[in-house]
Amino acid sequence: MSSELLRLVGVRKQFGAHVVLNDVAFQVAPGEIVGLVGPNGSGKTTTINVISGLLQADAGQVVFLGRDINRLPMFQRARLGINRTFQVPKVFRDMTVLENVEVAARTAQLGEDQVQEILRETELQQVAGRVAGSLTVNQQKLLDLARALATRPRLLLVDEIGAGLNPAELGVMAELLLKLAGRGIALIVVEHLLDFLNRITERVIVLGAGRMLFEGPLQAASREPEVVAAFIGAPAES
Ligand SMILES: Nc1ncnc2c1ncn2[C@@H]1O[C@H](COP(=O)(O)OP(=O)(O)OP(=O)(O)O)[C@@H](O)[C@H]1O
Ligand SMILES: [Mg+2]
Repeated sequence: MSSELLRLVGVRKQFGAHVVLNDVAFQVAPGEIVGLVGPNGSGKTTTINVISGLLQADAGQVVFLGRDINRLPMFQRARLGINRTFQVPKVFRDMTVLENVEVAARTAQLGEDQVQEILRETELQQVAGRVAGSLTVNQQKLLDLARALATRPRLLLVDEIGAGLNPAELGVMAELLLKLAGRGIALIVVEHLLDFLNRITERVIVLGAGRMLFEGPLQAASREPEVVAAFIGAPAES
């Protein structure tokens, strides 16, 4: 299919005897925002890790641009156009905001104008000279995003970027993610904040204990007994 950017096929990941992802399979098209939701420990971050290359799936395929990349290390996947933000922002705390973005920009060999454009877009221009460790939570999340954008991703994996943001900051973040998608970047957005997700996604995937429980519009997910059971901790059969 020409509109396919990413496809997971039967992805499995286990740590020792603990199966964390079991037969996870979905596709993402360019410019699409797909939400990834589920209770704590359901495997959301692990899914991101398996796509970005921090971890390798034990079985199944991670197909990007028609090629199985499951054996590729993270830096090669970054070169192909996969990058991510982290649940706890990964920034160099002793370096300035500008230096953080410049380091990331080397991968895609961006010039200073392009770095400035990313700082403007993420509203970090005013604090470009500040050390990253002195930033607010919102600014650190934006910097983590700016750093990922500086690699010129085709697929951006965003792990709980809304956590800790106030309503106004969430609004700005939602607009920014929609703008990136409008430019053709595909996004997988892991999020517990469902209102935020509802604003930016047409489709979500619900994980429960590593299995896909639902795929479709967020509003329809809450009508699925298995999804409700996963979130309130009751057995699905009950
Ligand atoms: N490197 C690892 N080694 C062992 N177990 C791990 C590792 N990474 C994750 N796990 C386990 O895998 C399960 C899924 O973790 P994961 O971080 O993917 O969940 P999550 O859905 O992102 O949860 P949260 O909403 O709390 O961030 C958890 O039980 C976790 O303890
Ligand atoms: Mg997580």
